[in-house]
Amino acid sequence: MSSDSDPAAFIRANTAVAAPPLLPEIRLHLAGEVTPLWQATEASLARSGLPPPFWAFAWAGGQALARYLLDHRDTVAGKAVLDFGAGSGVVAIAAALAGAARVAAAEIDPFAAAAIAANAALNGVSVAVVAADPLAGPVPAAAVVAAADVCYEQPMAGRVEAWLRRCAAAGRLVLLADPGRAYAPRDGLVECARYLVPTSRELEDREARDTAVWRVLPGAATPASARATPRRPRAGRGRGSCRGA
Ligand SMILES: C[S@@+](CC[C@H](N)C(=O)[O-])C[C@H]1O[C@@H](n2cnc3c(N)ncnc32)[C@H](O)[C@@H]1O
Repeated sequence: MSSDSDPAAFIRANTAVAAPPLLPEIRLHLAGEVTPLWQATEASLARSGLPPPFWAFAWAGGQALARYLLDHRDTVAGKAVLDFGAGSGVVAIAAALAGAARVAAAEIDPFAAAAIAANAALNGVSVAVVAADPLAGPVPAAAVVAAADVCYEQPMAGRVEAWLRRCAAAGRLVLLADPGRAYAPRDGLVECARYLVPTSRELEDREARDTAVWRVLPGAATPASARATPRRPRAGRGRGSCRGA
């Protein structure tokens, strides 16, 4: 059976169930080692134009934002939540475990969509997978919009930032977690928390990543898409609460 025809079978065959370092209460189908999974997906990726297997890792941003939601349940309890660029679904699952009324996970990668469904089932929670790119669409109805580790390349990061600002301007609580990726926004943010997330040298070229959870405000000084050179976010910009209405 090829990975193209059955992503769920491919995920089961190429991952092991484990808890990410910062999240002992969440179990996910994760790649034990980076290289074999990358190689296993290469043929399929070349044929189908699919992205790399981001869904097989709980990225530093995802772990930090999931930890934040589990430790600050009132942020999402009783509310509708949308996890943008959900990957494994780690943030969506944390939101559901923290008592969110409804959780949706937006993903453009069909393998990630299958991984989110499998991981939600593993944790006994309900997550609706939205297999679409929401960035060009209307502001979602969800009260809380979450995005973790989605600022790693241009022009995607510029589109993501513009959309997150639009969501914030429309009154959504917008939370973004980022471990210092090149294209993360640096202004118009309120720092909610910061975590040192263990990672692997194979994946991140270092053993831990200092990762911030930000509330995104409606306005920023300079959109990421207009910057000539990527810059690291500065801590502590902006004022305000990390809780929504
Ligand atoms: C580095 S992964 C982060 C996954 C997860 N949030 C985490 O922190 O573990 C980024 C994810 O964003 C997804 N993505 C990229 N562009 C997207 C878009 N326009 N709409 C929905 N998902 C997108 C990718 O498929 C990928 O799974």
